Amino acid sequence: MKFKKTALITGITGQDGSILADFLLKKNYKIIGIKRRSSSFNTERIDHLYTKHVLNKSYFPYYGDLTDTSNLIRIIQQTKPHEIYNLAAQSHVRTSFETPEYTANADALGTLRLLEAIRILKLEKKIKFYQASTSEIFGNTKIPQNEKTPFAPTSPYAISKLFSYWTVINYRKAYNIFAVNGILFNHEGERRGATFVTRKITRAVANYFLGNKEILYLGNLNAKRDWGAADDYIKTMWMMLQQKKPSDYVISTGVSKSVKDFVNEAYKCIDVKVIWKGKGVKEIGIDKKTKRTIIKIDKYYFRPTEVHELKGDSSKAKKELKWKPKISFKKLVKTMVESDIDKLKNLNFN
Ligand code: NAP
Ligand code: GDD
Repeated sequence: MKFKKTALITGITGQDGSILADFLLKKNYKIIGIKRRSSSFNTERIDHLYTKHVLNKSYFPYYGDLTDTSNLIRIIQQTKPHEIYNLAAQSHVRTSFETPEYTANADALGTLRLLEAIRILKLEKKIKFYQASTSEIFGNTKIPQNEKTPFAPTSPYAISKLFSYWTVINYRKAYNIFAVNGILFNHEGERRGATFVTRKITRAVANYFLGNKEILYLGNLNAKRDWGAADDYIKTMWMMLQQKKPSDYVISTGVSKSVKDFVNEAYKCIDVKVIWKGKGVKEIGIDKKTKRTIIKIDKYYFRPTEVHELKGDSSKAKKELKWKPKISFKKLVKTMVESDIDKLKNLNFN
């Protein structure tokens, strides 16, 4: 089979990596995926690639890690990709406060290692590089945030990602590498990790719908995020690498909602109206019909420093990439709740 191009995806087992792999396979790419060795299964999101694509040789998994320089050099040397999508990261903001050194190693130095590997192998002219940057680098700056907004990162995760952001720009200027930062705002979907707040909520709602009356414990209900759909956002990664000139882009919906808004919308999908009572850590969410307490606050989920509101302005992407999001907040929440109900039903059935 003749492939158009070869793409190397780090973080292929994650939400974005798995969706990007599906997207690029449809475009007749050969995919090289880097996955970590794990004592339990970590390939649930890409298992479908094994049966279909390993057999027709369009998908090649490699064991690797962003903290292992020689491993990264060897994979790039052996596979000579046209495009590298660096999506691997310790991507959980709260966890980064507990593992700051590891987060910096993977999320900051990992990017440097990949770009250095390109230089060491003299592939500067041959490989295009996409870096998964993030709206977290803006921290608590004025909204809406765009490519010209100053950065004020407020977590080890965001600081590490900002190191990568500047490294990409430096390697672009210093060595003429086609390297870009996609500054993506929060994007969610059926494959979202269960410890991120949206999926945590939609799973709890699905459980409640199916009769499990456990309380959902959350942290800061007032933080606001610009939540988009991963299915809308992933294609922009590829689009950025198809431009004539490398440049950095903000990808967002331009609408920001609070965690509480998300909770209200998610329970609405199963016809439950949430009534809020109390303040601060004493605030609770009650099912209006049954009067049952369904949501409580647990301080454990608070962060030492919080980003209060993210809201993006993606006019540049709209103009230059001709991109705009299609999936609304309502539709996103509904899809996630329905998908979790289906998944849990199947689990119970088995
Ligand atoms: P995710 O679901 O947490 O996936 C992260 C991926 O990175 C997983 O495949 C994980 O492997 C892998 N990984 C973690 N540490 C690694 C290491 N040291 N070496 C190699 N692989 C490693 O994250 P996501 O939501 O798909 O996000 C993808 C990228 O975009 C991340 O860099 C994230 O920081 C960034 N980002 C995400 C969003 C968003 O809203 N989703 C927004 C902006 C930026 P395991 O499966 O083995 O854990
Ligand atoms: N995870 C989590 N769990 N967050 C909670 C909870 C909870 O129980 N309760 C409230 N929150 C609040 C957090 O304090 C934060 O303000 C907001 O919900 C969103 O948290 P996450 O879903 O963990 O995402 P994030 O915004 O911190 O980070 C995500 O988006 C970034 C882009 O802005 C991740 O995907 C990052 O990797 C990504 O860069």
